[in-house]
Amino acid sequence: MRNQIASGLALAALFTASTASANNNGQSLAAAHGIPHPAVIAHRGASYDAPESTTPAYLLAREQGADYLELDLQRTRDGVLVVVHDDVLSRTSDVAERFPERKASPVSAFTLAELKSLDAGSWFNQAYPERARPSFRKLPILTLDEVIDIAEGNPERQPGLYIETKVPQQFPGIEQDLKTRLEARGWLDRPGRVVLQTFDRNSLALLHQAMPQVPKILLLWVGTKAIKPASGQDFVDSGVTDKAGFYARQQPRDQAEFLRWLGYARQGGAVGTGPSARRTGLGEQSYADLIQPWMNQASHARGLLVHVYTLDEPVDFDKAMKAGVDGIFTNRAGALLRYYQRPAEPEAAALERLGY
Ligand code: G3P
Ligand code: CA
Repeated sequence: MRNQIASGLALAALFTASTASANNNGQSLAAAHGIPHPAVIAHRGASYDAPESTTPAYLLAREQGADYLELDLQRTRDGVLVVVHDDVLSRTSDVAERFPERKASPVSAFTLAELKSLDAGSWFNQAYPERARPSFRKLPILTLDEVIDIAEGNPERQPGLYIETKVPQQFPGIEQDLKTRLEARGWLDRPGRVVLQTFDRNSLALLHQAMPQVPKILLLWVGTKAIKPASGQDFVDSGVTDKAGFYARQQPRDQAEFLRWLGYARQGGAVGTGPSARRTGLGEQSYADLIQPWMNQASHARGLLVHVYTLDEPVDFDKAMKAGVDGIFTNRAGALLRYYQRPAEPEAAALERLGY
């Protein structure tokens, strides 16, 4: 009899667990963490229309109504938290002219004053002449505090911050530094106002230790130091020159390997994952397809949200939403808002109104 009761209880527990899994849809998961659904995450600001991680990029994203301003966090030689994506400054600044001997040095080799002396806007005008504006010349690199100022700058538009610890192994203690600044600015007061993200499992654990109540996302990537690829290769070792084509062929070694990373996300205290995606048109930010429906279902079944990076076209927004994601990192916040039938001021008009 005791055995019968025990097995009955086990079956009931199993049933309850599977029912709970089935009910764990993205919308309710997001609501539980104070995260908008589906979330519009302005990747490095509105970085299609203005130089990434600069004032006009973040102002435009804010004014258009993005839910979050996304940023990549690094630290200067003199200990200030700054917003820069790449490990080095050569792609997005004139560092090669200003500091030729340090053009390949990491961000951590520069003081704030040195970084502030760089022009982080003109490269955009050269790279994208069709979107160039004279006012983008000489835009400065921003500190975390300056992005917070922008996020707080319009009482009618109050985006959250979606903060990535970038190359965190180069910045011991950055997770605690981040907590100190967010706390000082009163940004840890509301659930879901800040979301923290990282590719690095160690940094995820440190973020969770420092800010257990703040939602965190483990970013997912196929590579020999991340989700092991079926190909066994990284792009840099592949000898292939077509980067997007290479990534389009990449996939996890097997299903178990993908599921293992969902386990890492849960163990590290994440509320969701940030998988890469393949773009229909491929291009620079097209990576391995990690938003197949079974992957998103497996994430939801484990109580994990899915915020995919980085999509810019309606065809890809549509594919991602149909595959079951809960939010999208985009360089074109306006386009994504319009796709969701949310209002968004036209980019050129907004930039001009903002003085650009
Ligand atoms: O943070 C999500 C996405 O931004 C990750 O890619 O290289 O653009 O920071 P990356
Ligand atoms: Ca990022």
